[in-house]
Amino acid sequence: MTAATRQEQLAGIFKSATVIPVLTIERLEDAVPLARALVAGGVRVLEVTLRTPVAADAAKAMIAEVPEAVIGIGTILNGDDLARARAIGARFGISPGSTPELLKAAAASDLPFAPGIATASELMQALAAGFDLVKFFPAEQAGGIKALRALAGPFPHIEVCPTGGIGEANAAAWLAEPNVVAVGGSWLCPAADIRSGNWAGITAMCARTMKSLKPA
Ligand code: 3PG
Repeated sequence: MTAATRQEQLAGIFKSATVIPVLTIERLEDAVPLARALVAGGVRVLEVTLRTPVAADAAKAMIAEVPEAVIGIGTILNGDDLARARAIGARFGISPGSTPELLKAAAASDLPFAPGIATASELMQALAAGFDLVKFFPAEQAGGIKALRALAGPFPHIEVCPTGGIGEANAAAWLAEPNVVAVGGSWLCPAADIRSGNWAGITAMCARTMKSLKPA
């Protein structure tokens, strides 16, 4: 797969998503009901973060049992994590940052991948490695929409998925920015709802969010 094709695939996945929940799964048995709850609410593109011991198995279970979901792996910190994501069968990978080692590994891999950037220098490194769709993280804390607009001055062609501090109150404002292809965040899956198995509540919040952000 060429780098251009890989990037096009990633852009297609993100644009179809509008919203990408950032999932931290503590118990393996939550993985499949959580994915089903999100899909039932119209949220199909999911980022399973490598932040817990069960994360990889959770992603595998979702891929096997919820085929309507498009599962990506988040919190990819190095080449080994990237290789794990690929081996699991993830459709894409996301990182909070962009180290030279990770960018090199991602450029050599055919896994669609979005590195994380918060500064012009990090963005320049990502662009030099061939990645023009990036995660802007932590979006609100790093300056919010004003910071994104400032970055778009010298880099007008970038495409961005902001995450960090995004929720129901500000998601629409971010999505209205011309270079924002999707927004990500943990707000659609509160830890308390996952812990208590409030799948219906998660479905309802997703449905409400998708209705307001992406009217039919
Ligand atoms: C991420 O990795 O994208 C963040 O943890 C999501 O940030 P949020 O919890 O503020 O939504």
